[in-house]
Amino acid sequence: MKIALGTDHAGFILKSAASDYLASRDIEVLDLGAYVLDEEDSYTDPAFRVGGAISDGEADAGVLLCGTGFGISIAANKIPGIRAVACHSTESARMAKAHNNINVIALGGRFSKPEDVPEILGTWLDTPFEGGRHLRRINKIAMAEKSTLNVRLQGGGKITIFNHPLIQHKVGIIRDVNTSVKQFRELLQEITGLMVYDITRTLPIEDKEVTTPIEKTVVKSIEGRKMAIVPVLRAGLGMVDGILQLVPNAKVGHIGLYRDPKTLQPVEYYCKLPFDIEERDIFVLDPMLATGGSSSAAISLIKKRGGRRIALVCLIAAPEGIDKVHSEHPEVEIYAAALDSHLNSHGYIVPGLGDAGDRLFGTK
Ligand code: RB5
Repeated sequence: MKIALGTDHAGFILKSAASDYLASRDIEVLDLGAYVLDEEDSYTDPAFRVGGAISDGEADAGVLLCGTGFGISIAANKIPGIRAVACHSTESARMAKAHNNINVIALGGRFSKPEDVPEILGTWLDTPFEGGRHLRRINKIAMAEKSTLNVRLQGGGKITIFNHPLIQHKVGIIRDVNTSVKQFRELLQEITGLMVYDITRTLPIEDKEVTTPIEKTVVKSIEGRKMAIVPVLRAGLGMVDGILQLVPNAKVGHIGLYRDPKTLQPVEYYCKLPFDIEERDIFVLDPMLATGGSSSAAISLIKKRGGRRIALVCLIAAPEGIDKVHSEHPEVEIYAAALDSHLNSHGYIVPGLGDAGDRLFGTK
């Protein structure tokens, strides 16, 4: 585990107590300053540095120090995915972790003494998050964050939910029980395309020379990264064309799984992947991440055949499915257009949209 540490001048008095305690527990400390005591040092920059390190995946959690713990936690909470709370006692640290799963704890040099620090930090680190209804509330807070979100959930896995108004608008229509099969197909493709537009934002580009009717010029071109998309049959098929319209050279694999009625475990009945799967960036397509059983099994199959860089693209995800995939494949980033509340007793996502396969192919 790696913890980012940041302080202003008024929290500096607690800094060595905090870093010594973390080191005593063999936790790697990413010291993001301040490094010397300077009355001019404000709490804003260390808060943004620590929050940014967590959001970029450089650190798993953070400890922030200022005079009260207040200003520095307010600043850190501006970074999507950060849940920072000022804790001045072991009880507040315990509750903030158990119910709010804070990933940043803020301490105040005007409230706590250096000798209080180990017990407060230890309580925060050792208290488990209770999950359940508290996870649903945290997920709602995450949804309220305005832009595309990078949310780190319990277990360290990464999930991105797209809050773009066009995506949210179309998700609203596709959920409607009165939406026709034709509209459903079109919308699933459109939403997938919009997600992929954003997912591919970080593809590396290179310069290349072309000749326009006027003169030679240098233009940008996507570097030859190989991509594979792998729909999980059958509902995943509905997402394929939305990606191929934007990335026509992507290769397409297929994975078919059914649920064994006795063991309830997913069983493979079809698997055909591009021959050079180990060289490709792989996007597994499965519109409904409900229990996570089939998505997780599909990812395992791809790994067995050599696939390494794998992401999962869904339309709607439930917390149970996210936990399942991340518990078995913590390195797999999940992309979803919506994060719903929970599963009902039949394993359907609530509120969800019903059975995506049936709605896509008109089989019910
Ligand atoms: C600095 O004097 C102080 O205002 C700051 O450390 C913090 O307590 C703000 O919330």
